[in-house]
Amino acid sequence: MTSETPTVDRTAAIARLQSHQEKHKWSLRDLFSTSPDRATRFSADAAGIYLDFSKNHLREETLELLLGLTEEVDLRKQIEDLLSGATVNNTEHRPALHTALRFQGKPATEHEQAVADCRAQMRRFVEQVHSKQWTGYTGEPIRHVVNIGIGGSDLGPRMVMEALRPWDRPDLSVHFVANIDGADLSDTLATLPPENTLFIVASKSFSTLETRQNALSARQWMLDAGCREDQLAQHFVAVSSNIVAAQDFGIAAENIFPMWSWVGGRYSLWSAIGLPIALGCGFDAYEQLLAGANAMDSHFAEAPFSESLPVLMALIHFWYRQCWQTGSQVVLPYAQRLAKFPAWLQQLDMESLGKGVDRDGHQLPYPTGSVIWGTEGSNGQHSFHQLLHQGTDMIPADFIAIKQPTSELVEQHRWLLACCISQSQALLQGKSQQEAREELEQQGYTHREAHALAPHKAIPGNRPSNTLIVEKLDPYHLGALLALYEHKVFTMGCLLGINPFDQWGVELGKLLGNAVHDAIGKEAPAEWDGSSRELLARLF
Ligand code: F6P
Repeated sequence: MTSETPTVDRTAAIARLQSHQEKHKWSLRDLFSTSPDRATRFSADAAGIYLDFSKNHLREETLELLLGLTEEVDLRKQIEDLLSGATVNNTEHRPALHTALRFQGKPATEHEQAVADCRAQMRRFVEQVHSKQWTGYTGEPIRHVVNIGIGGSDLGPRMVMEALRPWDRPDLSVHFVANIDGADLSDTLATLPPENTLFIVASKSFSTLETRQNALSARQWMLDAGCREDQLAQHFVAVSSNIVAAQDFGIAAENIFPMWSWVGGRYSLWSAIGLPIALGCGFDAYEQLLAGANAMDSHFAEAPFSESLPVLMALIHFWYRQCWQTGSQVVLPYAQRLAKFPAWLQQLDMESLGKGVDRDGHQLPYPTGSVIWGTEGSNGQHSFHQLLHQGTDMIPADFIAIKQPTSELVEQHRWLLACCISQSQALLQGKSQQEAREELEQQGYTHREAHALAPHKAIPGNRPSNTLIVEKLDPYHLGALLALYEHKVFTMGCLLGINPFDQWGVELGKLLGNAVHDAIGKEAPAEWDGSSRELLARLF
C-alpha cells in the first residue's frame, strides 16, 4: 500500500497559505523592481528544459510554505511508492508504473522484463514493415497505418507524431481515427488504398465503444475491397491488455502487443500504444522519446524539491487553485507542431485530478482539478488572449518556448520567440489607467477623450505565468516535457490527497450511452427525465 500520512491536515495548510496571501500586497511589478535578479532565483532546469517561474506571485516565504506542504504529505515517500510499484491506484488496487515503460539499460524487475520483451516485439514488427517484408493481401507493402483508438490510446501518439514531423518516414504515413462519428473513419479511408493499409486497434480494455465500432467498420472496408477473412491478419494488429477480446475480434495472437493493468490509459504512450510513433518516425526516435522521459523520471526521483521542475509547477498550481480562486490554467506552446499538446494535457490533468473525494472516499472541502485549455502560439494571441489580458479572471499561464528553430525560416522563429516573451511580459506589466491616459494624450486625444477611453485601454496586468524553454523539439526533449507534466499531475494528486489514477466519472456516461442506444426506435422508458425522452423522440 502507498503511504498517505493519516495526520495530514490539508485544510490547515491551505489556511496558512491563505493567511500568508492576505498579509502581503502582491504586485509582480514590485516584486521585480525590488529583486531584479528574481529570474535567476526563481528558475530551475533539468533534462534540457529550463523553467522560469519568477513571473508568479511568489516570495521566498511563499515557496517555503509550499515546500513545507511537501513534507507534510510526505511527497518523497509518495514518489518512492509510485516509482517502486506500490499500489498507488488504491481504488483499482494497482500500481501505476508508466515510468517502468521508459526504463533504460538492462531490465531489473519483472515489469521491466515484460517491457523489454514488448519493445523487442515492436522492433521486429517495425523492421518487417519498414523492410517491406510485411505485405498486405495483394503482396504489396504497407504504406499507410491507421491507428484506431481513443483517449489515451490516441491523444499521446497523435500529438507526438505531429510534434516530430521532421522524423516522418516518406514511405509510410500514419493516420488517426478516434471518433464514433463515422465521418472520422470514412474521411480517413476515402483516400487510402486498402491493399497498402494496416490498422492498429489500440485499446487497453478492448471494450471501448468507439474503438470497437471503428475497428468493425475498418474490417468490413477491407473485406469489401476483396481481402479474404484469412488475409485480415496482414492488415490488423492490436495493442491491448485484453488478449482474449482482441483474439475474439479476429486478431492473430502473434499480432497482439501487450499492455498491462499497471499502465493507465493516459500514461500509455510509452508502451506499445506508441507503435504508430515507432512505425512513422522510426524505432530510434521512439527510443529517444523514452530516454528523454527517463531523464525526467530521474530528476523527479532525485532532485531536491526546491529544484524539481514537476514539484515546483505543482506547488504553484496548488497555490493559485487554493488561494487565488483560479478555476482554469492555460497552456500555450509556442510551436506549431505542439498544437495537440493542450488536448493531450487535458486528458492527463483533468481525468487525473477531476475528483471530489480523497483517497479514502471523504468529500473534499477544497477545490481539486481545474480546467486546462490552450492552443499553439502565436495563434491564440488573435483569439482568446484578450480574455487573458483584460478579462475578469486571473488565469495562470504556462508558456512553452522551443529554443532551436523548428523550420528553416529562422527569422520567423525569432518573431515567434519574441511573441512568446512579450505575452508573458504584457500579462505581468499590464497598463494602468494613468499610463493609458498619458499615452492617449501623447497621441493627440483631448484630456476628456483620453479620460473616457482610458478604462477600456487599461490592462490590469499582475497576471502570473511560467515559461518553459525546451532546448529542441526532438524526441528526447519532447519525452522529457511530457514526463514533466505527468509528474506535475502526480504531485498535484499528492498535494490534494486524491487518487490521480482512476477515472470512475466516465463510466456512468458509458452505461447510459448503451441504454440510450438500446432505446432507439422504441418508446423511451418512463423513468427517464423529460428532456432525454423528448430528444430521443426528435432524433429518431
Ligand atoms: O473513457 C476514458 C478512458 O477509459 C480513458 O481513460 C482511456 O484512455 C480511454 O477511455 C480509452 O480506453 P481503452 O484504451 O481501453 O480503449
